[in-house]
Amino acid sequence: AAPTPPPDLSSCSIAKITETEEVSYSCCAPTPDDLNKIPYYKFPSMTKLRIRQPAHAADEEYIAKYNLAISRMKHLDTTEPLNPIGFKQQANIHCAYCNGAYKIGDKVLQVHNSWLFFPFHRWYLYFYERILGSIIDDPTFALPYWNWDHPKGMRMPAMFDREGTALYDQVRNQSHRPREGVMDFWFLLVMKVQTTKLQLMSNTLTLMYRQMVTNAPCPRMFFGAPYVLGNNVEAPGTIEVIPHGPVHVWTGTVPGTTLPNGRTSHGENMGHFYSAGLDPVFFCHHSNVDRMWSEWKAIGGKRRDISHKDWLNSEFFFYDENGDPFRVKVRDCLDTKKMGYDYAPMPTPWRNFKP
Ligand code: C2O
Repeated sequence: AAPTPPPDLSSCSIAKITETEEVSYSCCAPTPDDLNKIPYYKFPSMTKLRIRQPAHAADEEYIAKYNLAISRMKHLDTTEPLNPIGFKQQANIHCAYCNGAYKIGDKVLQVHNSWLFFPFHRWYLYFYERILGSIIDDPTFALPYWNWDHPKGMRMPAMFDREGTALYDQVRNQSHRPREGVMDFWFLLVMKVQTTKLQLMSNTLTLMYRQMVTNAPCPRMFFGAPYVLGNNVEAPGTIEVIPHGPVHVWTGTVPGTTLPNGRTSHGENMGHFYSAGLDPVFFCHHSNVDRMWSEWKAIGGKRRDISHKDWLNSEFFFYDENGDPFRVKVRDCLDTKKMGYDYAPMPTPWRNFKP
């Protein structure tokens, strides 16, 4: 491996949903004026940490603020080319980095299924959160986290299920709305065993123990394998596979059904890379994925960040809240407090669910 350089923006091309089907619009980021002089990002000075709270515990004041921020972000989507900090272009970041729009040399960039997964999404949320804070003029604004590792968070967070609000997305599996009950990571299995709500919850806690403790004793298992450019060998980390993946698929529409726009579903929005960022709950889901990174390190032992230079020096490209383009390095996202945010503590009952 070698460190992954930032994507080559000048060669950005159309993204693909499947081998043969293309995304019908461009996911490419607007090209900055001086491509060769994109500066490295420096953390702005800050006085107060942004504290991410569990979504199920959010109060009305917070929900109103969050809705306001997302609706303002959606209102930025009226220009052509799209505003880099608008709602659609922010969702397109995920599409471009994950559906083959970016090339590095003649290889296609893919930030999933490898050790790029955690740092890419951390930086992605970092900028997204700062954009939201900036458009409502509240630098302390923090994303919520979907606390699916705790019984209280094991359903779609209610704030995302209010029809007609900015946080709602109609392109979701309608039988997985909060009133339908707890999440079931086994819903993909055809042969389903009847289980009670309580059993489902304890199954999930056991699963969390496996993915965080038993199966992830060292960085290689937790983060996934080194990223080799253009290599199709998929070697994702434990949490990326489960529960990260199933939560996406569980939330999105059922593949093969008809979407509101008349097309056939590939799992949109949450269940496919190119469209996942169009559902605001994506960022809430990933906030908890990101929190698992911190929780994992807190368990101790060999559970530390990767020390390999190729990981530390890998780079991504993002626009900040002022619409300015920056390069960022993996090595600068290892400490959330340095990045200006942290997680409100929640008990982690899965720690006691050793199978
Ligand atoms: Cu980039 Cu949850 O996927």
